[in-house]
Formats: sequence, C-alpha cells, structure tokens
Amino acid sequence: MRPFIVKPFQSFSGTILLPGDKSIAHRAIILGALSHGNTIIENFPVNKDCLATIAAFQKLRVKITRKDNKVIVFGKGLHGLTKPTGPIFSGDSGTTFRLLLGVFAGQPFKSELIAGRFLSRRPMLRVNAPLRLMGADIKAYSLGAEEYPPVTIRGGDLGPIVYRMPVASAQVKSAILLAALYAQGISRVIEPIATRDHTERMLKSFGADIKADHRKPNTITIRGNKELVSPKKIYIPADISSAGFFIVAALILPHSKICIRKASLNPTRMGAIRVLKRMGADIKVTKSPLRLRSGQASHQATKYEPMGDIIVKSSRLKGTLIKKEEIPSLIDELPILMVAACFAKGLTAFQGVDELRVKETDRIKSMIENLSKIGAKIQNLKAGKMENIIIEGEKPLRGKRVRSFGDHRTAMSMVVAGLAASGQTSIDDVSCIAKSFPDFLKILNTLSNK
Ligand code: S3P
Repeated sequence: MRPFIVKPFQSFSGTILLPGDKSIAHRAIILGALSHGNTIIENFPVNKDCLATIAAFQKLRVKITRKDNKVIVFGKGLHGLTKPTGPIFSGDSGTTFRLLLGVFAGQPFKSELIAGRFLSRRPMLRVNAPLRLMGADIKAYSLGAEEYPPVTIRGGDLGPIVYRMPVASAQVKSAILLAALYAQGISRVIEPIATRDHTERMLKSFGADIKADHRKPNTITIRGNKELVSPKKIYIPADISSAGFFIVAALILPHSKICIRKASLNPTRMGAIRVLKRMGADIKVTKSPLRLRSGQASHQATKYEPMGDIIVKSSRLKGTLIKKEEIPSLIDELPILMVAACFAKGLTAFQGVDELRVKETDRIKSMIENLSKIGAKIQNLKAGKMENIIIEGEKPLRGKRVRSFGDHRTAMSMVVAGLAASGQTSIDDVSCIAKSFPDFLKILNTLSNK
C-alpha cells in the first residue's frame, strides 16, 4: 500500500450532498427484514459496514436488492428468518455484530457470528450479559473477564428485562430493544447517559409499542410480541459523522464556506455542532419543514429523523470544556474535534473519553501519536478511572508521516489536519476509509480551492 499524500488547501467551498447515516442505515435493513411489507431505502450509504448488514440478512434468506444507493428490503416479519447454513460474517462492523446478537437472541435456532481482524478485539460482554439475562444461550471467546467474537447464540423463549446499562452505548441499548421485540411482556432499558436514539425512532415508525418513560430519565419501555409493519419508504439523511470532517475543514481553512444539504439533525447526534458553536464556530442549521401530503407525512425521514441544511464558514475558534455527559452525542466525532481543538485559542479539554479505547482502534493512542507528530500539544490525563484529553491549540502544525492504524475516522481526521498543516502529510494507509465513507476523498477534492 502506497502512502497517501495530503497537501494543504488554501480554502474550501461548495455545496454537498453526503451518503446517508450509517447508524440509521443498519437499522433500516434490520427492521425492514423483521417487518411485514417492503421497505424502500433511499440515500443508503454504500460502505463496507452497511453492506455487511445487507449480506448478513441475505444469508438469513431475506431478499434485499440494491441499485446504487437505493435498497429494497422484502420483509419477512419477526419470525420469518431462516437458520443460516454457516457462520455470519460481520466484517469489522460493530453495529452489525452487536445488533445482530439482539436479533439472534429472539431466534429459535443456533447462529454463529464471526468478525474481522479489528472487531475480533472489541468487547462483547456488554451485549452478551443482558441477552443472557433475557434467556439467550450464548458462548463467546473469552479472555480474562471479557468476551470477544466469535459468538454462538441460541435464542427463543425470551423473557422481558429491566436493565440498567453500565456503559452508555447505543449498540448495547439497540441489541436489547431488538431482543425485547421477541420477549413476552414489557422490557425497560435505563441508560446512564442518553445515546443515539435511531432504534427507538425507527421502531416507532414500524409500529412497535415503544416509548420513553418521561417520569424517569433515560428510560425506554417496549412491549414485545407485536409484529412490525414497514413504513414503506425511508429516506436516510446525510451522516452527521461524515459531515463532521467537512465541517471542521471549512472552519479551520481560511475563506471557506460550505453547505451540507439534507443532513441528519437528530439531537442525540448533534453534540459536535453544539461544541463547535461554543468554540465560536459560524455554523447555521436550518431544519427542513415536515412536508405533509393529504394529511400524511410524505417524508419518513423528516417525521422520524429530523434533517436539514448546515452552512459553515471559516471561524476563529477558542478552547472549551467537553463534559463527559456530552460524549455519547459526539463519540464518533472526537478524533475530528481533537483536530479542531489544535486550531483553537487556548485549552480544550475532553472529559471521560474512555470509550475511545474500544472503538475500531484505540483512538486515544492513535490521535495522540499522530497529532503530536505534526506538532500539536496534546496530552492524556487520567483522573481516577476516567480518561481525559487536553489540547493546547494554535501550535504550528507541520506535515509528517502519520498512521491511520487501519481506522477510518483516524484516517479522515488526519487528512483534514493535513489540509490545514504546512508542508506535506503522508498517511500510511487510507483504504480503511471505505468502512464508512468510500467517496470521502473524491467529495473533498470537489470542495478544494488549492
Ligand atoms: C453506533 C453507536 C456507537 C458509535 C458507532 C455506531 C450505533 O457505538 O460509536 O459508530 O450505530 O449504534 P457504541 O454504542 O459502542 O458507543
């Protein structure tokens, strides 16, 4: 693999439409497969992770067709999956793996889930533990007190659960909610901090009996054993996590202005925008109105997933404190926010970023190594068990040889850092970007004013 060379951009401008949100896309395939009726999915993000979810359900004999970014799922209902003939491979897609565990917990057959090189090192006990409490029989590769892929699971006959989650994770919450569809009775999930709520929103649009318990914070209740009905059409708004790389590039490159159209504006995913605004960023968000046709929502996305346009102009940023309660709403944007912090006046502190250690790679290690190499002042400070990162901004950044560590978000963050650094930045391997956003570099180049 030849290293990828990034040369500085003078500025950045244009209007872009980005591929749909990866998290929403996984859920659209899963609920499309488990419901009655056909689901047409528009603006589907064609990336490795989402294709892994499609392939998994095709192995379970669900018919799914795709032409470019339009996907049709021919639903089979809650009990229509066929026992797979071999193991299901979810590549390095953690969302595919963990959400499938929830689905398999409800199936009366044995399934084996296997994973790629990176995902095979990521913890699975956080999902296996609650699913076992519901009655699933799960065996996993275990090392010390943790469990990892491969996982075999035999489900069926689940009981409801009341579960207080020890970690704030949308993947864990979603696995439990999916399993709860198969349980007799009402399940309740309590999160320590609210995480992305795409599963809840989409379950509602498929007619599930699910609601937030307003008397208790971060508590969701769901009644099982009710068949789902497809809303027929789902438009997936642009992935706000992919948008993050363009937003930060436009902020830190002088004389830049970009507009990202039809972006996801789900409040549980907008943490990075809130933080950047606090840092002084000139970002304007306009929500698309909910269009009604003969009394009905013509656009499922605007009804169940808010979307709109985001306009960003170059800005002088200043440091801020990102509190641990904010982390789930910007978890995937932490690497690119670290890049933004390098261009901010003063100190930026990220509190409670522990979960970054167990993402596709250890993103604390990879970002500290890379940003330090190009001249940033960045440190990891531990307070008890909590991990924090402190960045002192406005140090001159100079391009060097850096590494992606095989992690798509580290690679894209370092591309953006390279655009604003002086000299040439070389990144060892950017093929990992295909995990979430294969067209990233192509779209980036359409915006450059070199
Ligand atoms: C995701 C949840 C987050 C996020 C991941 C996608 C999801 O992971 O980092 O990229 O689609 O539910 P955790 O649930 O592990 O925090």
